[in-house]
Formats: sequence, C-alpha cells, structure tokens
Amino acid sequence: MKTTILKSALLLAAGLALGPAQALEITLPAETAVYQESSLPGYQLAMAHCLMCHSAQYVQTQPHTSPRSYWEATVKKMKKPFGAPFPEADIEPIVDYLSKTYGAEGTAGK
Ligand code: HEC
Repeated sequence: MKTTILKSALLLAAGLALGPAQALEITLPAETAVYQESSLPGYQLAMAHCLMCHSAQYVQTQPHTSPRSYWEATVKKMKKPFGAPFPEADIEPIVDYLSKTYGAEGTAGK
C-alpha cells in the first residue's frame, strides 16, 4: 500500500515536471493580415496607409459584390471621421485598387 502511494506521487511529480516542458505545436492560419499583391498603384498606397489601425481583414470580409461607390465611401470614412492621415490624392488610386481586387470589378475571392 505504501509503495503504491509513493509510486503515484512519483508519477505525478514526473508528470508535472514534463508538462510545461513539452513542445507546443501551433499551426498558424494562412496570412490574411496584408493586402493582396497587385501592380495597381493603390496596392502600395493601401499597404502604406491602411494597416496602421487594423489589418486587411476588414477589407477582405466585405462582400465581393461591393461597387466602387461603396469603396469610395469607405475609404473617405477612414479619413473622416476616423482620422486616417493619408492625402486626398491617394483616395482615387486606393479606391481603384480595392474595387478591382476586393469589389465588384475584381475576381479576388470569387
Ligand atoms: C485612423 C485609423 C484607420 C485607418 C488608417 C484606416 N481605418 Fe479602416 N477602420 C477604422 C475604424 C475605427 C473602423 C471601424 C471599426 C469597427 O467598426 O469596429 C474601420 C473599419 C474599416 C472597414 C470595415 C467596414 C466599415 O465600414 O467599418 C473597412 C473595409 C476599412 N476600415 C478599410 C480601410 C481602408 C481601405 C483603409 C485605408 C484607406 C483604412 N481602413 C484605414 C480605422 C482606420
């Protein structure tokens, strides 16, 4: 009886000692935080201006049927009232890139 208890205690101690040392395997999901690469000038602008507050996931999760007017309203909203500091001149190329990459004019995710 005494030996059994001692054995259990030893096994428990061994288990506790091994526990935290065991390798933890983590499989990360596919990269979704950045913008889809493109030769359109708006791609570089989106990478520069649209990742400082949130990842590209907000853009990726919008309906792919969204028209240009939706993207324009959204980008303008990021500037005002949300306060994104990109110049007015960058709005048009960013909207063009988003419409063709994530919106009704593109094929991404379709
Ligand atoms: C100043 C910080 C800031 C910057 C820079 C910014 N956003 Fe946002 N964005 C926000 C906030 C705040 C929300 C709203 C989050 C919420 O509702 O939880 C948001 C939400 C969104 C959404 C979700 C839909 C919606 O209307 O709420 C999209 C799409 C989006 N942003 C795209 C962009 C794009 C494209 C850019 C670059 C042109 C950009 N954001 C840059 C702050 C920012």
